[in-house]
Amino acid sequence: MIEVSGLLGNLPDAMLNNMEYFDKRCPNDNEPLVRMKGFDKFTGRTFAGMCPKCFWHEPFPSERAKKNTPEQFTLKAMKNDTFTYLERSSILSDTSVFNGNFNNYCTKTQAEKRALEYAKKVETKMLNETVHAVMVGGTGRGKTHLAVGIMYQYMEDMNYVFPAKGNYRALRVIFADLPELVDQAKLGMNNEDIRKNVDSVIANIKTADLVIIDDLGAERQTDFALATLDTIVRARENKNLVITTNLKSAELVSAYGDRTISRLSHHGVGNSFSFKNIEDHRGVKVI
Ligand SMILES: Nc1ncnc2c1ncn2[C@@H]1O[C@H](COP(=O)(O)OP(=O)(O)OP(=O)(O)O)[C@@H](O)[C@H]1O
Ligand SMILES: [Mg+2]
Repeated sequence: MIEVSGLLGNLPDAMLNNMEYFDKRCPNDNEPLVRMKGFDKFTGRTFAGMCPKCFWHEPFPSERAKKNTPEQFTLKAMKNDTFTYLERSSILSDTSVFNGNFNNYCTKTQAEKRALEYAKKVETKMLNETVHAVMVGGTGRGKTHLAVGIMYQYMEDMNYVFPAKGNYRALRVIFADLPELVDQAKLGMNNEDIRKNVDSVIANIKTADLVIIDDLGAERQTDFALATLDTIVRARENKNLVITTNLKSAELVSAYGDRTISRLSHHGVGNSFSFKNIEDHRGVKVI
């Protein structure tokens, strides 16, 4: 049974009994969202969640259906295309990073609970507006794990499609390990195939619907790295971007320059999170 407070206090009991909490919070004030139980009979989707405090709501099922469910394509085909794009366009040093998600992130401490809540809030926000999120903290704290969690949840909530020019296409999401991208670029100086692949990854990073840039600051500090980050940040000025880094904001500015970093601030206000007070999980068995 949901808690009767604020705006919900005005609703009749029969309606309240038919409402439920689910696993999302309001991006404005972090209140748990409520929604009608069951499914919308026209779209077969869950009802939109609403904040009982400020009235913010998720897109209504009919809007989501209109936006995200092209009749001519099946969900399965879209999902397949999205994953194929992710695999082809991503650049990784280790495929195990793709094992992280919201469900297998353990929250034994308050700090971890807050980190998970933050990641869910970023993802919810991204469904309605452009978000630039920066996850900062020491090694092994779960930044990459939660960045990948945001990525999977976004793909699922978008139903693997993106509305484009009055039509629909498969959602495009990329994960780029920046140190690996810079290393590959160096190898590409003597190898045409590698160079072509790096060029194509960078071209896709400019246009994809969501890009994760992992481990900013850990790459070789070369002119190429600086220029690449500047190109990426410029191209993604109005597109979703999630960055993980060990560098604090002053260190980011001194490494990449004020101009590049301030471009992130437009859609970045309130979207950064510090993974302090969280232990290093590398080598620790998390149960
Ligand atoms: N709360 C958690 N629950 C479950 N697994 C976790 C948790 N935190 C971290 N891990 C796991 O610990 C390992 C290290 O986490 P992750 O790679 O996300 O760290 P990171 O903060 O990105 O570190 P780095 O700065 O070195 O890249 C991963 O295997 C990840 O899945
Ligand atoms: Mg990491």
